[in-house]
Amino acid sequence: MSRYIIHTFGCQMNKHDSERMAGLLQTHGYMPAVSDADADVIIFNTCAVRETADDRLYGQVASLKALKTGGRPEVIIAVGGCVGQRDGERMLQHLPHVDVVFGTHNIHELPSLIDAAAYGRSVARVLEGTETFASDLPTVREHAWHAWVPINVGCDNHCAYCIVPTVRGPERSRVFEDVVTEVAALVAEGVIEVTLLGQNVNSYGRDRYGQPRFAELLHAVAATGIPRIRFATSHPKDLSDDTIRALAELPALMPYLHLPVQHGSNAVLAAMNRRYTRETYLDRIERLRAAVPDITLSTDIIVGFPGETDADFEQTLDLYDRVAFDHAFTFIYSSREGTPAAALTTTVPREISQQRFDRLAARVRDLSFESNRRVVGRTQECLVEGASRKDRHVLSARTPHNRLVHVPVPEGRTAGAYAGTLQMIRVTGAHPWFLTGELDNDAV
Ligand code: SAH
Ligand code: SF4
Ligand code: F3S
Repeated sequence: MSRYIIHTFGCQMNKHDSERMAGLLQTHGYMPAVSDADADVIIFNTCAVRETADDRLYGQVASLKALKTGGRPEVIIAVGGCVGQRDGERMLQHLPHVDVVFGTHNIHELPSLIDAAAYGRSVARVLEGTETFASDLPTVREHAWHAWVPINVGCDNHCAYCIVPTVRGPERSRVFEDVVTEVAALVAEGVIEVTLLGQNVNSYGRDRYGQPRFAELLHAVAATGIPRIRFATSHPKDLSDDTIRALAELPALMPYLHLPVQHGSNAVLAAMNRRYTRETYLDRIERLRAAVPDITLSTDIIVGFPGETDADFEQTLDLYDRVAFDHAFTFIYSSREGTPAAALTTTVPREISQQRFDRLAARVRDLSFESNRRVVGRTQECLVEGASRKDRHVLSARTPHNRLVHVPVPEGRTAGAYAGTLQMIRVTGAHPWFLTGELDNDAV
């Protein structure tokens, strides 16, 4: 029986796509491999959002050449995801030992493309638009207790720096009933938490005239009885008052929101084509906090966008402090061929971007530490994810506010017994990136 392995780069949507690829392959008789060495098919599910992710892929795939020339010529190497979508046929010229290139819109064709490659033909096939939602395909979930549920795919926003609209296509929403039915089935299977996914979940339903929108979807998903709901990603300009109200009203909606601001300067926000100002962003935050006073907030920030001045960057730091974000993902601007920003010539020198990045990173760390210190002593119901990656005698769990908390495994128990369970955890200590705690009532 053939064995496969999937290497996944990129965002949550890609992680979910990989689960669908695994499901599809297993229904076609494949089994998971443990490593590249015992795999018959090696799949890369790729990300094109920044140059570093892109380079890593080309490096990793190139290093597999040795596997093929070193005695295993029959191994099939398949590259899918956003770089596959972007490069298509071109990839076979740069990496001739790749057998299959596929895109984000034709995951369902993966088994037949592999079959074609097994007859010795390299194949590259990408489609322009989405015909099948990956969610209609079988799945092998990473965890029994958590599920990613895409609600829309693609993006219509065209932020000046971003390749995603090119590689994921225009925004398309899934049918309302399909999403609700899927979550209801997950509840029946015992899933505890779902994460609703989209490049911009807030605009859900906009492409389906007269159909329910995101806030209504949240209500319907909560009505299935799923204990915990999270969602990502939200675009600030589309975050409606109805959605803010849903966050306050629905106990299953976790009190945490990832709301990428990207920049603190109105000039840069306009150049990025974000279509909001720092003032409207701050207004959204005010409304959120009025509705859910202890909500945790995280964001994405880009430094070194073309034309960014010192004064612009100070505005980013200022906004960061004003909002007092609990966490942030920070990036140095990376020029992506084919995006509007790639044509801008006012580039920021690398050393300056790096200095600004380091200053921002220090603020992020300080405020994250402060945020964590505020919750020491609090007891909350947390979802245990399993053993910590570093120590199997320690459990990793998530608080409702999405803080990571490490808890010692009680004497005589194993971490596995707790994975996917809800536990009352008392926070005993704070670190910049995680908390420490102890189980409050040992219910397993
Ligand atoms: N749809 C989501 C995520 C997009 S990609 C959203 O709109 O928020 C995730 C993050 O990568 C973005 O929020 C942005 O901060 C960053 N990013 C995207 N393109 C980038 C680029 N060219 N250079 C640096 N960071 C980028
Ligand atoms: Fe990219 Fe902007 Fe769409 Fe997010 S909203 S995926 S940053 S174009
Ligand atoms: Fe990367 Fe594609 Fe996601 S470019 S961030 S994997 S949509």
